[in-house]
Amino acid sequence: MKKVTKAVIPAAGLGTRMLPIARSVPKEVLPIVDRPVMEYLVREAVDSGIKDILIITNRGKGVIEDYFDHSPEYEDKLRAKGKLDEIEAMRELTSKANIYFIRQKEPKGLGHAISCAKAFTGDDPFCVLYGDDVIASEVPVCRQLICAYDKYGLGVAGVNRVTDEQIVKYCSLKVDPIENNEYKVSDMIEKPKIEQKFSNFSILGRVLLTSDIYDILDRTEPGAGNEIQLTDAMRELCRTKGMTAVEFEGTRYDMGSKLGFLYANVEYALRHPELSEPFKAYLRELTKTL
Ligand code: UTP
Repeated sequence: MKKVTKAVIPAAGLGTRMLPIARSVPKEVLPIVDRPVMEYLVREAVDSGIKDILIITNRGKGVIEDYFDHSPEYEDKLRAKGKLDEIEAMRELTSKANIYFIRQKEPKGLGHAISCAKAFTGDDPFCVLYGDDVIASEVPVCRQLICAYDKYGLGVAGVNRVTDEQIVKYCSLKVDPIENNEYKVSDMIEKPKIEQKFSNFSILGRVLLTSDIYDILDRTEPGAGNEIQLTDAMRELCRTKGMTAVEFEGTRYDMGSKLGFLYANVEYALRHPELSEPFKAYLRELTKTL
C-alpha cells in the first residue's frame, strides 16, 4: 500500500460567515494569537509525515503564498533586530515539506476545490485539511487518519460527535463500530434536516481520500447551497469502495465562524508559554465584571 505523503488544503472559499473581515483578509490567515490559521495546518501536516502540500487559493489570497515565502530583505531586517528565532522557525517548517499553490478559478464548493488537486496527487492517497479548521491534539489528527488508512487501505473521515444544533449545519454519518475509535462508514448526508440525520457523528475538518474520488467528483452535481459538495462524492465512495471513520482525539476550532475564532484565541493564549500567566490574570479580573 502507498505511504501517505501528500496533503491538500482548500482555502479558496468566500468565507461569508467571517464578513466583513473576509472581504480583504482571508479567514485562512486570521491569527490565533500570533500566527495564521494556515501555519497551524501546515505544521499539523508536516508533523504527520506529509512531504508535499498543495494549498488551493484564489484571487485575493496571495497573502497565503507570501507568508511561507522567503524574503531576503525582510529577513535581513529581522536579523538586524536579533530576531533569529523567527527566521529559523519558518525556515525549519518550510524545509520539511514542499508547499505548492493552485487557484480554484471560481468558488464552486469544497468538492470542486478538491478536484483541482488531481494533477498534484495523481494516484496517491492524500489528506485533506479544511482551510478553516484548526485542531489542537496530542497526536496530529492527520497522523491519526493515516494510521487508519495504513490498517484498512480505505478513505478515512475524521469525525467527532456534535450536537443536534450543529449536525444540521454540518454532515451526518451512518457508522458501525469496528474497534476502539474506528468505524465503518456506509452512508452520509450534507446539511441534513434533523429527521434525516444518521447519527451525531460529523466530519470535522479532516479526511483522507484515495484517487477514486476524482471520477466521482467529475459527475457530482451541485448539492446543498448549490455547491459541489465533497460529502456527496464521499457518499458514493463509501457506498462503492468503502470508507472508515476515526473519532479523533483533539479539540477543533471552526476558524470560519466568529465564535470559533474567539474560542481559539482565548484557549491558545491560555496555553502560550509567555502570555498564559498575564492573560489568566486579566481574565480573572474580567470575569468578575461579567
Ligand atoms: P467552507 O464551506 O467552510 O468555506 O469550506 P466557505 O464557503 O468559505 O464558508 P462560508 O460558509 O462562506 O463562511 C471549508 C474549506 O473549504 C474551502 C474554504 O476556503 C474552507 O477553508 N473552500 C470552500 C474552497 O477552497 N473552495 C470552495 O469553493 C469552497
